Amino acid sequence: MKILVATDKPFAAVAVEGIRKEIESCGGELVLLEKYGEKAKLLEAVKEVEGIIVRSDIIDAEVFDAAKNLKIVVRAGAGYDNIDLAAATAHNVCVMNTPGQNSNAVAELVFGMTVMLVRNFFNGTSGSELKGKKLGIHAFGQVGRNVARIAQGFGMKVYAFDPYCPSKVISEAGVNPIEDVNEMYKTCQFVSLHIPATEETKKSINYALLNQMPKGAVLINTARKEVINEEELVKLMEDRPDFKYISDIAPANAALFAEKFPGRYFFTPKKMGAQTAEANINAGIAAARQSVGFLTKGIDKFRVNK
Ligand code: 3PG
Repeated sequence: MKILVATDKPFAAVAVEGIRKEIESCGGELVLLEKYGEKAKLLEAVKEVEGIIVRSDIIDAEVFDAAKNLKIVVRAGAGYDNIDLAAATAHNVCVMNTPGQNSNAVAELVFGMTVMLVRNFFNGTSGSELKGKKLGIHAFGQVGRNVARIAQGFGMKVYAFDPYCPSKVISEAGVNPIEDVNEMYKTCQFVSLHIPATEETKKSINYALLNQMPKGAVLINTARKEVINEEELVKLMEDRPDFKYISDIAPANAALFAEKFPGRYFFTPKKMGAQTAEANINAGIAAARQSVGFLTKGIDKFRVNK
């Protein structure tokens, strides 16, 4: 039983060791491919293996074609928009994610970036505080729930919109459920995005939605860049000098932001949300356990394709 860990953005070494132990204790073999850069190396590495563990690495039809023995792909993380589910199903390969395992890390980054922004990038001038401010959480999944918990510690007033989550779950977390997405954007000076990138959500964060936000609006994106209508965001920031955008994923038109909006944006140089030892250990080991569980016992909990 060979399981490939293919991570262009590697896990912390301690997490890789945990994954290795998990696989070897079940008689398997770990094949490690880190920082591979070119797809050709990935296509070569997948040839022999029965399982693949990835992060945001693209697993498309070409990879499935090359991986003749493949039975399972586990995305060590939440979003699986990097995996071609239809191709996986066509090749009779099970795809899973590891929900919740890296969500606290992402939620902490939301506040790391937000505090840095409201304190003017620590440049010595007077900034502002989060206490008493309104935060809207767009999608109340695992990351959204952790964001709510931390926001409550800051003394923020917290709201959430999630058509797939019962209002009761939101209110039991001490958060105000909002049924109309427009209402949430109208209400909240800060909005944090936690929606997946799907056909429904791509480019859905647009001018009309964002322009409803109150003065001094801050949009925080630790989800996916695809959910933003980038052209419309630029137009909005041109029209509204009070609007700020911070993101864990630089937009395709990042150079424009540098030119037009100095001091009003921040982008991590590389996606950093899940980049903690703890998140790597949690998600990596969960992915190893799920791979072994499927390959040895057929356990398919957390399967995301049909
Ligand atoms: C996720 O979907 O789990 C996060 O976006 C983290 O992605 P990463 O593993 O590529 O850092």
